[in-house]
Amino acid sequence: MTTPMINILLLGGSSEATALARVLADRGWPATFSYAGRVKALAPQPLPTRVGGFGGVDGLVRYLRDHQITHLIDATHPFAGQISTHAVRAAEQAGVPLLAFTRPPWTPEAGDHWQTVPDMAAAVAALSGPPERIMLALGRLQLPLFAAQPQHHYLLRFVEEPTELLPVPDYSLIIDRGPFTEESDRALLEQYRIDRVVSKNAGGEGARAKLTAARQLGLPVLMIDRPQVPPRAEVHSVEAVLDWLAHESERSPEAERGV
Ligand SMILES: NC(=O)c1ccc[n+]([C@@H]2O[C@H](COP(=O)([O-])OP(=O)(O)OC[C@H]3O[C@@H](n4cnc5c(N)ncnc54)[C@H](OP(=O)(O)O)[C@@H]3O)[C@@H](O)[C@H]2O)c1
Repeated sequence: MTTPMINILLLGGSSEATALARVLADRGWPATFSYAGRVKALAPQPLPTRVGGFGGVDGLVRYLRDHQITHLIDATHPFAGQISTHAVRAAEQAGVPLLAFTRPPWTPEAGDHWQTVPDMAAAVAALSGPPERIMLALGRLQLPLFAAQPQHHYLLRFVEEPTELLPVPDYSLIIDRGPFTEESDRALLEQYRIDRVVSKNAGGEGARAKLTAARQLGLPVLMIDRPQVPPRAEVHSVEAVLDWLAHESERSPEAERGV
């Protein structure tokens, strides 16, 4: 195919972003991959890659203009609500079309025992009862909030070894990037005698195993809803992103933007 004159900024940090980067690189679409740089061992990408925040909405607007970005694709994790909100605002201000590429949220199935809460603070409040053994499948950034409920034993699973002291007194720590299987997560829940699973509604396949394992064992799940993001165009497949790019590039963005 011929590659239109476009220049994409792909906000990454999710398996969707990595899958899309591969396809864009294979098809020769000019694109830059952007990482926040939260983890030390960043997976290499087949696209030119930048690392670090932009400096809020203003910084992102500046980046879009300075680098003559014609298309912004937000494929960040569904719980990265701040950068996704910034992307909506910056795209509006810079006049750059924005598409969010996300995975659909999980929905409960027969046999699930979910209690759904709107955010992390509500999840912490919901754990105010007597001591339990809890699988806290959240990542280390949210952990400080749970210091308010020190009575529980927490099973933690991080992608890399933490450098800081953990803020909960009683925990077991596993370092594993996944993806995980139903069998291994069920074995884990049994081995650590878990009473309840706390999960973000991230969606996708890699992290679903713990929910299936919890259903099989009849365990309750405290499910945290996604953060709210302003309205934006959103798709759930690489094919839909490619359709959007093809459609948008036909609208001659360089002409519209005076590039
Ligand atoms: N939150 C999660 O549960 C989770 C899980 C897995 C992976 N991740 C990934 O980890 C990254 C950070 O997540 P978060 O929850 O801390 O995000 P966040 O709260 O939405 O964003 C915080 C700040 O980090 C910077 N940032 C975030 N993503 C960026 C990107 N792709 N490129 C450049 N700067 C970025 C932005 O800084 P400036 O304001 O300075 O531009 C943003 O304001 C995201 O890229 C996300 O995809 C998050």
